[in-house]
Amino acid sequence: VARFAVIGQPVSHSKSPRIHAQFAQDCGVELQYQAIEIEPRQLADRLRELHAQGYAGLNVTLPHKAAVAALCESVSERAQLAGAVNCLIRTDTGWRGDNTDGEGLLRDLARLGIEINGQRVLILGAGGAARGIIGPLLEAGPKLLVVSNRNPWKPEDLAERFKAVGPLVPRTHLALKGDAFDVVINATSAGHSGDMPRLPPGLLAAGAKCYDLSYGIASEPFANWARKQSAAVVEDGLGMLVEQAASSFELWLGQRPQTAPVLAGLR
Ligand code: ATR
Repeated sequence: VARFAVIGQPVSHSKSPRIHAQFAQDCGVELQYQAIEIEPRQLADRLRELHAQGYAGLNVTLPHKAAVAALCESVSERAQLAGAVNCLIRTDTGWRGDNTDGEGLLRDLARLGIEINGQRVLILGAGGAARGIIGPLLEAGPKLLVVSNRNPWKPEDLAERFKAVGPLVPRTHLALKGDAFDVVINATSAGHSGDMPRLPPGLLAAGAKCYDLSYGIASEPFANWARKQSAAVVEDGLGMLVEQAASSFELWLGQRPQTAPVLAGLR
């Protein structure tokens, strides 16, 4: 039986084992998928061990997404740009790193009917989560893509990093005053401490749609803000979690599982 796992620290709460078990069942594939806790200082050794033990693929979660990239034999272009790897594919001699987070977001936005093409799009936050989604968002053809952050130099760095893909406008949250957006995506980690970035009022155009990369309780502060600003649509990132998992499954096994039943089961 082909073996897979998600590696992280902590990792016991991960939904990935459950998601992949259901994908496998629905696709009629036999596989084993575990959650394996790894300390950062043991990452290189453990990756070699898991390869020697015959694992066919790994998902990577916090805090290893950036560090794993440097330990791969090769890395896809999109993972390189994201500066992060969330999916490892076994080769004969090591691991190939890829990143399915951005693709997962785009697929979930499509599922929800949230259009990016031709729209004015705002990303809140300029950390690792934002870096993972900017490439695919730029490729989707927004009229305007702005990344805003509390700390002003991080958006500037991101604009420089992605300039070959497309124009990304860097801002601080406060400098957004007077702008209006059709789609707002929360990529900050503020919700994990029950917080929400401080934003000027009036950022949402009529009919604006709001999406949080977080899900569960961490997505509540942004959802509350979005509702107060009269957003037409407010969504969390549980669908993205399932879609990025499906993209990993597809990279490993060559078939794309249905995501709707798994998402319904998680809700
Ligand atoms: P992740 O991988 O989740 O993106 P990260 O790289 O540490 O984590 O980035 C966290 C992001 O959330 C940053 O954009 C951070 O803003 P700063 O760069 O200004 O610190 C943002 N963030 C976290 N807590 C926040 C808060 N309470 N208010 C506003 N922004 C916050």
